[in-house]
Amino acid sequence: MCGIVAAAANTNIVPVLVEGLKKLEYRGYDSAGIAVIGSSQIERVRSVGRVAELETASASTQSPTGIAHTRWATHGVPCERNAHPHISGSIAVVHNGIIENYEALRAELSAQGYVFTSDTDTESIAHLVESLLRNEPDLFTAVRLACRRLIGAYAIAVIDQRQPGKIVVAREGSPLLLGVSETGNYAASDASALLQVTRNMVYLENGDLAELTVGGVRITRLDGTPVERPVHVSQLSAAAVELGNYSHYMQKEIFEQPEALANTLEMIGGSKSIQPGMFGAEAGEMLADIDQILILACGTSAHSGQTARYWLESIAGVPCNVEIASEYRYRTSVANPRQLVVAISQSGETADTLAALRHAKSLGQTRTLALCNVPESAIVRESALRFITRAGPEIGVASTKAFTTQLAALFLLTLAVAKAKQRLNAEQEATFIEQLRHLPVAVNKVLDLENDIRDWAQRFADKHHALFLGRGRHYPIALEGALKLKEISYIHAEAYPAGELKHGPLALVDAKMPVISVAPNDELLEKLKSNLQEVRARGGELYVFADGDSEITESDGIHVLRLPEHYGQLSPILHVIPLQLLSYHVALVKGTDVDKPRNLAKSVTVE
Ligand code: G6P
Repeated sequence: MCGIVAAAANTNIVPVLVEGLKKLEYRGYDSAGIAVIGSSQIERVRSVGRVAELETASASTQSPTGIAHTRWATHGVPCERNAHPHISGSIAVVHNGIIENYEALRAELSAQGYVFTSDTDTESIAHLVESLLRNEPDLFTAVRLACRRLIGAYAIAVIDQRQPGKIVVAREGSPLLLGVSETGNYAASDASALLQVTRNMVYLENGDLAELTVGGVRITRLDGTPVERPVHVSQLSAAAVELGNYSHYMQKEIFEQPEALANTLEMIGGSKSIQPGMFGAEAGEMLADIDQILILACGTSAHSGQTARYWLESIAGVPCNVEIASEYRYRTSVANPRQLVVAISQSGETADTLAALRHAKSLGQTRTLALCNVPESAIVRESALRFITRAGPEIGVASTKAFTTQLAALFLLTLAVAKAKQRLNAEQEATFIEQLRHLPVAVNKVLDLENDIRDWAQRFADKHHALFLGRGRHYPIALEGALKLKEISYIHAEAYPAGELKHGPLALVDAKMPVISVAPNDELLEKLKSNLQEVRARGGELYVFADGDSEITESDGIHVLRLPEHYGQLSPILHVIPLQLLSYHVALVKGTDVDKPRNLAKSVTVE
């Protein structure tokens, strides 16, 4: 979604705003803008496209106080007129989120004589604050009163030319944190934007408002009650959000997977057994008592849930359903108070997943577990149990290391549930833990396939469609491979359980349709081989990711790459990696914008 940066300091803050936007660009990138307190009026610079263009356009702008925004369009097409900040009189506003009652506000404010120049919901906030300032000169109070009229999700930052040196920010539903320092105070959608100036972060709660000046910060609730929020020293390393030697964040994040997995699995340390406490203090009791699991997620996170379903049913023996969050939240479903509801989300702020979690709770299902990569996120805070993956910041829009660390966490959950249900003896437990511990090394070996995959990628660049096949716990991996290819190379790709091929998709197979098959050496391999023959018999070109010891051989029209070893239950974590690399290299050949694919956003905080 959109990203916000705001700064009140004792020097020119324009470079800080621009640098912060660059760090947030992954959140949204169709247009960007800044507004600063000028010598006589608000100075605003906006541009369509990337932050680099805004940087050039704002090179001569200077001020110690300002706000900035990078946009992912929801209301109104991407164009300069719709780019933030939006101005009304002497004030300027940036906003992330969605104002649901904006049409009513627009009608009311138009009737008062305000002229709207954009199609955005945000402009109604600007005019609303301006109208309130007529009776209430203090910006903080005017913004507070304005927020009480807003319905929806928002993080906003507001400046007023008549009150220089001051910024008012507020949050309800969309992320916003403050960065505090001796030389200035700041706000942003996430910590990565502020590491350039401070490590001291204050996380705002929903319903908080803050006033920032160079000298300090004050926070109140929407009713005006003052509140204190603790200062956290961010552990995020600045290097974690730098590209380093890599060409793209996606490439960096693919290659960070061994480390991300090792960090996520750190809590098993040298132990030979799983402690349910890693999911929260009450986990032991709760997991023993559940009779079903419901996983809610979107996008790539839903694919990790779909993979885990195979583990949870076969190892832990607990029935498991996986549902796309946007469907579940609006469906009349049968509630089961004994089921564990697991919300999986890299960002922890995806609007549909959060709403689905709340919906599940509203039906009396209070046994909830958040599996997230962002500790302070809304989904984590609203769940009874939690597991934080330690993937580090994921910047590339196409999710990679978040996915494999989610899978590792879900395998830990499987073991914890299996243990609570007495389905795991000590020997099995120790064997699984040993395999988990070896995972980072195994992933490293798979990454060595990059050169071969680069060669394959050349052959995909002129294709318009691709089919991915998998079976069993590797079917969701085929889904994830197809999603990756779609997202960043814009090649239409679909995934099927290989057994379903003959029920329709086989009609599409010809020499122009590459068929990519996830073919681990598991109990379904023989069945899969028959499905591959069905493809070959129709002239289809097969690209097979097999395991070292499997008997699939190269022949005319059948290309095979081998992963070093078969990895049993954990094999999906290895098999997704060549698919990530394939889509990355196809995108490179096609010359698309790998880290910021068109029309997409990293975290979708609107419906
Ligand atoms: C967006 C991203 C995907 C991600 C999905 C769910 O669509 O582009 O990469 O998988 O949101 O995000 P979450 O943060 O909830 O895992």
